[in-house]
Amino acid sequence: MPNITLSINQQSYMLTDLDPRTTLLDVCRHHLQLTGSKKGCDHGQCGACTMLVNGQRINSCLALAVMHEGDEITTIEGIGTPNSLSDLQQAFIDNDAFQCGYCTPGQICSATALFNEIAQRWPSHVSSDLTAPELIDVQEIAERMSGNICRCSAYPNIINAIQQVIKERGLTRELAAQGSNHNSDKTDGLTGASNTTGVSILSSPEIWSPPPSNITRTSAQTAESPNDAAQAHASLSGAAL
Ligand code: FES
Ligand code: FES
Repeated sequence: MPNITLSINQQSYMLTDLDPRTTLLDVCRHHLQLTGSKKGCDHGQCGACTMLVNGQRINSCLALAVMHEGDEITTIEGIGTPNSLSDLQQAFIDNDAFQCGYCTPGQICSATALFNEIAQRWPSHVSSDLTAPELIDVQEIAERMSGNICRCSAYPNIINAIQQVIKERGLTRELAAQGSNHNSDKTDGLTGASNTTGVSILSSPEIWSPPPSNITRTSAQTAESPNDAAQAHASLSGAAL
C-alpha cells in the first residue's frame, strides 16, 4: 500500500497505506472529511464531484488519488468560505442558481475553470468561429457546462450567474482587446447584436435549450394492445414468446 502526499487547497496531506484503488473523491470525502465535493453517479456522468487539478476541471470520481501526487488540487472548500465567497459563489446567491444545492459545488468548480478556458481562448464544441472563441453566448456557456447535471434544473439561473461574473470581470472586453484585429464583424449568436469593437456581449434575454433529439419510434412504443406490446417487447429483446 503506497504512502502519498497530496496538496489540496494549498495544504499538504500525507496518506499512509492508501489503497491504490481509492479515488480522489473518496480520499477527500472519506479520509480528509472534505465533503464539499459530492458523489452523484460515481461514473463520470453528473459532474457533482468536479474538482480542479492544476486549474483544470476533472471528475474526481474517475481519478485515482495516487495519480495526483505533486498536483495542486482545489475543491470547493478552496474556492471560497462562508465569510469570503468567490465572486461566482456570490453570483450563485444573487441569481438564485441552486435549489437542493447538491450539484452546486461541482457547478462552481466547473465554472471557475470555464473562466480560465475562456480567458485562454479555448474553443468549445459549439464555438462558431475557432479563430474567435470570444463569442460567449448562452449556447457557449451551456455547452461548456454540459458535464454538470442539475437534477433541480436550475440551469437558467446558473447561466445567469456565470454571465454575471463574465461581465463583472470584464472578460469579454479583455478578449476584445486581444482579438480586435480579427473580430470586427462578429455578432451575438442569439440576438445578432454586436458592440462597437465587434465582440459579442451577453445581452441575450432568452433561455437556450438544446434541440429535441430525433426520436425513432419502435414497434414497442406504437403497440396498441397488450398482445402487440408483448410481441414488440419480445422482438426488441430477441426473446421468443
Ligand atoms: S460523481 Fe463523479 S461525475 Fe458523477
Ligand atoms: S440544485 Fe439540486 S441538483 Fe442542482
